[in-house]
Amino acid sequence: MNKIMQENKVKLVINGKKVEAFSGDTILQVAAKEGIYIPNLCYHEKLKPYGACRLCLVEVEFNGKKRIVASCAYTVREDLFVYTESPEVERIRKNLVELYLAIFPFAPEIKKLAERYGLKGTRYRKENAYCSRCGLCVR
Ligand code: FES
Repeated sequence: MNKIMQENKVKLVINGKKVEAFSGDTILQVAAKEGIYIPNLCYHEKLKPYGACRLCLVEVEFNGKKRIVASCAYTVREDLFVYTESPEVERIRKNLVELYLAIFPFAPEIKKLAERYGLKGTRYRKENAYCSRCGLCVR
């Protein structure tokens, strides 16, 4: 991204809070700067977005249209509305956490999220792997 693009600022709204951000930043980066927590597994600030875990899903609204996007890969824009804990986001994220509880239940982030969602077990077939397949070690 060139320097001119980085210096372009946009105004958006995250969970009802008006924020200003650089146009090339992702929702996840902007939320973190604003102290708004969005769960994530495969994101690392020094790496390109990988988009594998989908835990960072958020709901965005632009021009009256809503959709679910991966906040680690979606760049902010003027007049974007972001909902990090909408009912749809929470429903999808809870299902993902339940799935990940079966696949890699030992990941600290998954344990924390399972507690948050009150998940004591999982309906999915257990694999009990230690690798969360976030790709961080390889990348
Ligand atoms: Fe966005 Fe994993 S952190 S998909």
